[in-house]
Amino acid sequence: MSALVSSALASSEVADAVRRGLSAPRKALPPFLFYDREGSDLFEQITLLPEYYLTRTERGILARDADSIAARLLAGARGPVAVLELGAGTATKTDLLLAAMVRARSDVHFVPADVSPTPLDAARTRLAASLPQLRVSPLVGTHGDALRRAVAWEGDLVVLFLGSSIGNYADDDAAALLAEVQSALGPRGTFLLGVDRAKSLSTMLPAYDDAAGVTAAFNRNMLARINRELGGEFDLATFRHVALWNEATSAIEMHLESLVAQTVRIGVLDMTVRFARGERVHTESSHKYTDRHVQGLFQAAGLAPVASFEDAERWFSLHVTRRRA
Ligand code: AVI
Repeated sequence: MSALVSSALASSEVADAVRRGLSAPRKALPPFLFYDREGSDLFEQITLLPEYYLTRTERGILARDADSIAARLLAGARGPVAVLELGAGTATKTDLLLAAMVRARSDVHFVPADVSPTPLDAARTRLAASLPQLRVSPLVGTHGDALRRAVAWEGDLVVLFLGSSIGNYADDDAAALLAEVQSALGPRGTFLLGVDRAKSLSTMLPAYDDAAGVTAAFNRNMLARINRELGGEFDLATFRHVALWNEATSAIEMHLESLVAQTVRIGVLDMTVRFARGERVHTESSHKYTDRHVQGLFQAAGLAPVASFEDAERWFSLHVTRRRA
């Protein structure tokens, strides 16, 4: 594996997504736009909030079961193992699993992949100190970039997709991404998927509307990013953060609601966007899963379940899968 660092998201991708999303009859901006430097920092803060149970619950499962999960992931490996983490961010909770893998084998190569280089630098620096025996090669790029490169690597592949990031995809797109993972895995490869399970609204909603307002700032950062990168003239104070439950899709949705009727200029796009008072821009869906839903996604993607691990309250689960024979 060499030359793993490619360029971050091209600015034309950002411009295209904003133009398309804000000219649609039902305005929407895709969640990848959250994760510039400021947004990635805000997301790190979200993971530490008392209301945001996802990260600490997943970490708890990893803390308890890391050795068993590592054993399942590495069961068929014959040679060196590349561990590719999609959307790794700072990969902080992955440390527990990597430590277990390094205890089991000496030839593990960790490739954390993300569209934002800043958290990957933090991951490399931290792991160099905490797990010096682990080779770490960050990859800046999309999930597709990372999986296309992984196909060419020697040895066995373990793919990780943690944090219930799959939940930010609509079902068709989730199944398509899992199918890409499946085809990159090869006959002995394994895949670990973290998913947030459906539970009471009184637990799920505050995780997306915290008392300190960090999630609201994370949501509004999309508009701030358009101002920074595309010469937008959004007044952030005129947009309200909205988090709601969509029963039909089993998802928490985030929206930005215009508090006034207004037009906003986006200079670089030579575009003026009109908002009615109360009009919303859909910025994210975060799906919450039942076992049946997860198994349906695996089935559609040609993946076979191997083992699953969950916390005592069954709030979050981690699923080991491989290619269906
Ligand atoms: C990255 N992803 C799994 C987070 C989620 O929970 O859907 C993003 C997030 N949005 C608001 N808070 C966190």
